[in-house]
Amino acid sequence: MTAPTAGSTTATAQRLLADLPPSPAVWCEGLRKRYGRRTAVDGVSFTVGRGEVLGLLGPNGAGKTSVIKMLLGLVRPDAGEVLLLGRPARDPQSRARVGYLPELFRYQPWLSAAEVLTLHVRLSGAAVPASEQRDVLGLVGLGERAGDRVGGFSKGMQQRLGLAVALVARPELVVLDEPTSALDPLGRVDVRDLVLSLKERGVAVLLNSHLIGEVERVCDRVVILDRGRVAAAGTLAELLGSRELRLRLDGVDARAEARLAATGRLTRSGNWFTVTLAEDEESAVPALVADLVALGVGVHAVEPGRISLEERLLAVLREGSGAPS
Ligand SMILES: Nc1ncnc2c1ncn2[C@@H]1O[C@H](COP(=O)(O)OP(=O)(O)OP(=O)(O)O)[C@@H](O)[C@H]1O
Ligand SMILES: [Mg+2]
Repeated sequence: MTAPTAGSTTATAQRLLADLPPSPAVWCEGLRKRYGRRTAVDGVSFTVGRGEVLGLLGPNGAGKTSVIKMLLGLVRPDAGEVLLLGRPARDPQSRARVGYLPELFRYQPWLSAAEVLTLHVRLSGAAVPASEQRDVLGLVGLGERAGDRVGGFSKGMQQRLGLAVALVARPELVVLDEPTSALDPLGRVDVRDLVLSLKERGVAVLLNSHLIGEVERVCDRVVILDRGRVAAAGTLAELLGSRELRLRLDGVDARAEARLAATGRLTRSGNWFTVTLAEDEESAVPALVADLVALGVGVHAVEPGRISLEERLLAVLREGSGAPS
């Protein structure tokens, strides 16, 4: 809670902030949190730009949920600063424009799904007509269950309702703490499409998920937390680095092998050859294939590839723990 003496200082700060160019959706610097003797979060800084989708990854207990709660003003940091949509995290004006799906939650079991949404719209202060609220329930696949009591909902249905709550008040930033942990495969695809449509509308998304493939498909940038610290951060291109080209070939002689090796680092497994390409070398692929054919090589398959985010994440975590990668 804001100390009573801080009122005028906060007002001055807000006037100053209002003059700045559009602020990032999330800005945090040096966040730190201890629970008893355990340091849960240890100097975490990052930003989420407007309309950007940021993935927050890391093992159980890495501090992801603690960071999210500090961003939203639900947990007080021991140190560090947070601005949400350009305002202090505890400012109700910024909170009203943030949609949040908590990690563990339960809505009032006696309310219907539609009533839960109406309640949250009222709490947010946004003027969202009933028809739009129904559309949001449809969007998360609960259109048919609007009048049913939440107490009778399955785990995945509760999570879908949580998503609807996070989306209903026309947020500018949506924070999703494991939105798909209870969802079936179709539901996961729906969430992926939802996140992409939010991004298209310029809504920023902070997504924490253990489903790395999901993060890889929708996120522009990723922050990897390990034991409370940022172990790696960057765009997918920065984190995943060079691209690979996988080719299934036969009739590869020494000359063909030399041609392959001239393109990039070459590895072989049976008939499959993998060449590592630098980021700007994809234009070299047609010439390589033409040369291989001219050298009499049978080219059966040519596939682009790159290391997966999962491989990268595991390597980062192994490096951090001192284990061989
Ligand atoms: N309220 C609390 N009281 C005591 N310790 C806590 C509390 N909340 C979190 N912690 C501790 O802080 C650390 C980070 O927890 P946090 O929930 O942020 O992890 P997480 O990265 O979200 O993990 P998961 O992937 O399992 O959700 C853990 O060691 C946890 O035990
Ligand atoms: Mg968590």
